[in-house]
Amino acid sequence: MNNHILRCITCKKEFTPKPGLYYCVDCGYIMGTLEVIYDYETIKDNSKVKQKNFEKKASMYQFDFLLPTESKCKFDEYVGGTPLYKFDLLGIKDVLVKYDGSNPSSSYKDRASSVAINRAIDEGNNTLFCASTGNAASSLAMLNAHTDMKTYIFVPATIPIGKRTQLEISGAQVMAVEGTYDEVYDLSLELGLKKGWYCRHAAINPYLLEGKKTGAFEIVIQNDFTVPDYVLVGVGDGTVISSLYKGFWEFKKIGLTDKIPRIIGVQAEGIPAIKAVFEKGKPYTPHVIIGETVADSIAVGNPRDVIKACTYIEACNGFFISITDEEILDAISELGKETGLFAEPAGAVAFGGLKKLIYEEKITDSDKVCLVITGNGLKDVNAVKDMIHTESLTVDEVVKRLEG
Ligand SMILES: Cc1ncc(COP(=O)(O)O)c(C=O)c1O
Ligand SMILES: [Zn+2]
Repeated sequence: MNNHILRCITCKKEFTPKPGLYYCVDCGYIMGTLEVIYDYETIKDNSKVKQKNFEKKASMYQFDFLLPTESKCKFDEYVGGTPLYKFDLLGIKDVLVKYDGSNPSSSYKDRASSVAINRAIDEGNNTLFCASTGNAASSLAMLNAHTDMKTYIFVPATIPIGKRTQLEISGAQVMAVEGTYDEVYDLSLELGLKKGWYCRHAAINPYLLEGKKTGAFEIVIQNDFTVPDYVLVGVGDGTVISSLYKGFWEFKKIGLTDKIPRIIGVQAEGIPAIKAVFEKGKPYTPHVIIGETVADSIAVGNPRDVIKACTYIEACNGFFISITDEEILDAISELGKETGLFAEPAGAVAFGGLKKLIYEEKITDSDKVCLVITGNGLKDVNAVKDMIHTESLTVDEVVKRLEG
């Protein structure tokens, strides 16, 4: 479907979409990630846009005029449309909490996998492949299970059991590799592209970001077209954060809003790869770091969407911060107690980041804040198993404790 062109983030060369074109070969697959550009003047005349006719609880395909797919798939109507809660948190009134743990496979990644599946069908490909820290893989495997297409999934063998189980029960071809995510990514990219399979790898496929940007559209619509001052989100490869910027940017571009929030990327202190590149300044230069964190989904030392993430975050006057594993685990527990929402570590970092910024007085109680919680805590209960403190009791002990 050609309602768009592709443009290299670095050299700005433009391309007409065609099967097998994923990045600008002149710039390479990290410097040369592509942006999907639509005809925004025509989109301004779309009746939904003109009348601001959107639903607060509809699937992300209500934004089909800003999506690059034609085919439809069974799950489409259930992807996106996730809740936007308001809570008084950490002394700030009405903090918006976008909870994407309620997507079909329980993470934000469903927004991208759904688009990847539809694009693969559009392009007549019958096999998809994906390297992932866990969620992208489990999302693709589950959303694709009902189709006739095959899915090859490459993950580090150490991914949390919840995500691994999602892969196994959905019948994907699983390659659980003894290596880091960065090693798995490179290995699978070489094999998959050689075979001509459809690539659902973070960053390299520009259409994934298109699915993910719908989270920003929903935040605007569910908050009655008011844009928050700050949006906080966890960052690994950098696609989710880039997608949020693009979503807010596009809604402004087509006249639905008048501002873009300052977007803050929260990384784990053990492996803050994009933060390091951003803080070194321009020209943004990819730089691999080695490290680890309890937040497995954002344990990325060689981020593939680093150029978009840095460029976009600079454009919205945002920044990156990092928090420790201890702060991440505290964030899961505190968020649970304050809201009843259960976040996996990479989702809870948004809350942990807010706490840090309030402490540093960089965000105050007059600011309008939105936290994007990207994954359901049930995906990785092992990370929080030390929080189970209650002892097992006999029936007699319960009665004695409660009735003296
Ligand atoms: C739950 C969760 N949060 C955040 C992220 C970060 O997204 P990205 O790698 O696009 O920066 C991921 C990526 O796997 C994730 O699974
Ligand atoms: Zn280029």
